[in-house]
Parts: sequence; structure tokens; C-alpha cells
Amino acid sequence: MARFLSFGSINIDYTYSLPHIVSEGETLASSALTVSAGGKGANQSAALAKSGCEVYHAGRIGKDGLFILDMLESYGVDTRYVDTSSAVSGNAVIQVDENGRNSIIIYGGGNREIRQDMVDDVLSHFSSGDWLVLQNEISMTGYIMKEGRKRGMKICFNPAPFDEKVLSLPLETADIICVNEIEGACLAGLDTGSDYESVLRRLMYLHPDTEILLTAGENGAFHGFKGNLCHADAVECEVVDTTAAGDTFIGYYLACRHKGLSADIAMNTACMASSLTVSREGAMKSIPFWSEVVL
Ligand code: RIB
Repeated sequence: MARFLSFGSINIDYTYSLPHIVSEGETLASSALTVSAGGKGANQSAALAKSGCEVYHAGRIGKDGLFILDMLESYGVDTRYVDTSSAVSGNAVIQVDENGRNSIIIYGGGNREIRQDMVDDVLSHFSSGDWLVLQNEISMTGYIMKEGRKRGMKICFNPAPFDEKVLSLPLETADIICVNEIEGACLAGLDTGSDYESVLRRLMYLHPDTEILLTAGENGAFHGFKGNLCHADAVECEVVDTTAAGDTFIGYYLACRHKGLSADIAMNTACMASSLTVSREGAMKSIPFWSEVVL
């Protein structure tokens, strides 16, 4: 059975509940502050584990983040490749408004202290057929992609958050690229207001050997590969907090494909899982278990 190695961020999330996302120059009182487990990498590990996959998480965190490792382990994530010697943990300041929409600032901390010797050591335990799951919140991403590919690992890359450096990464190593509408438009070199199909078709043209997943919030999600496009509708729900919806989608999509399900079924299952995530508060803790999604 293939194993999943999620080499990625672990963040302490500081989530502020607000009437609206704060504007430039504005000071706003928050009605609640929650400190909880997050980080795109760690959330994706949690989603994979909660959906029944064998998952290993690799990354770096400080001692104040040990509670996150406890949580990952409680879901079945193997954390033996997490280095806990970082002086400062990665963290995120998240604003969530009354409609569940968010805006996120991240501070790298240990996530930006991934070194080549650590990568070499971790990857030496994985081989052909295993999956490497990557986001854009840690250092050494390009090197990890190249070395993972050399070992014959399959790669799923989520270029989030998007920055210009993404364009110089070895994207041709990725078997799957998963983006939201903003990341997708930036990666495609199009305006951020571009329609979904244009973004999807442009990404398929630029990355002809890569499965493209485009998540579109209340508009569901799109899949494109080798000239074929499909779409899954979002599942209607009460939106409480959209944090980790994309992470849930990625974990569930990969889990479904790993179980031998079609792209179409995987997309619909991932949309269902994400709808449960957005109907709950928080990041990692809001991701559903397989038994809640597949009834
Ligand atoms: O995708 C959601 C995550 O983004 C949050 O948990 C936060 O830590 C940031 O990494």
C-alpha cells in the first residue's frame, strides 16, 4: 500500500472572530480568540489520516506546538519525522467574519527552517509509489520536489499561499496541482477575476501531464486532465468558518483516488468533506472523519 508523506507546515492558529475582515487603518474589537492546531501541511495530513490513509508528517515546530503533534497522532498521523527543536513555531493570525470568510497572515517560524540534510534523511525512508504532499509554507520546497521525483514518489503540490517564487519551482515534477481560484489565476498568468474554465484550460495547457484541481468555494470544484474536464457542485451548508476547506479537499481527493475511486467520485466526496469542514469552527479540528462523509 502506498504511503503518504506530507512534508509541510505546522502552525499554531490564532483565530479572531470579527464582524468583518479588518480594513486598512481600521481597529476592530474581536468577540473571540481561539488558539488551535493548523498549518496547511498539518491540516492536509489530518485530512488524509481522518479519511483512512497511512500518513507521515515531516516538518519543524517548537515546544509550544507539541499539542499539535498530539492531535495529529490522535488521528493516526505518524509524526516521527517532525523536528521539535525550532526556537519559534510557525503561526497564523486568522480573521473570520460573520459569514465564515477568512483572511490569514502566516509567520514561518520553524516551517522556514527545513534544511537539506533533514530532507535527505526523511526522503531516504520513502520510495517509488509513495505520495509526497506539498504546500508552499515551508523552505526547501523545490529541492524536496526534485528529490522526491528522483525517488519515484508521486507528488501533489498545493501552491498556497501563492508567491512569485512558485513560478520557478520544478512544477513539472507534480502529478497533481491543486489551486483555489486566486492561486490558479496567478499560476496561469491570468487576471484574478478570470472565469474558472479559462483558468483550468490555461493550467492544463501549461501543465499537460499534470492533473489540475481547482477549488471554487460555493461554486464547487473543477478537475482537468488530458483534455477532460469535470465539475463537482459544492454541497449546501451553513458556513461558519472556511479555514482548512482546501486542505480537506486535497486530503479527501487523494484518499479517494488511493482507494481506487474515479476522479469524479473523488471530487464529489472531497466537496462533501469540505462542506462539513466549513460548517465547523477552526482548522484541523474541523476536518471530518471518513465515517461522517461517506454515509
Ligand atoms: O489552510 C488553512 C491554514 O492556512 C491555517 O490552518 C493556517 O495555519 C494557514 O496555514
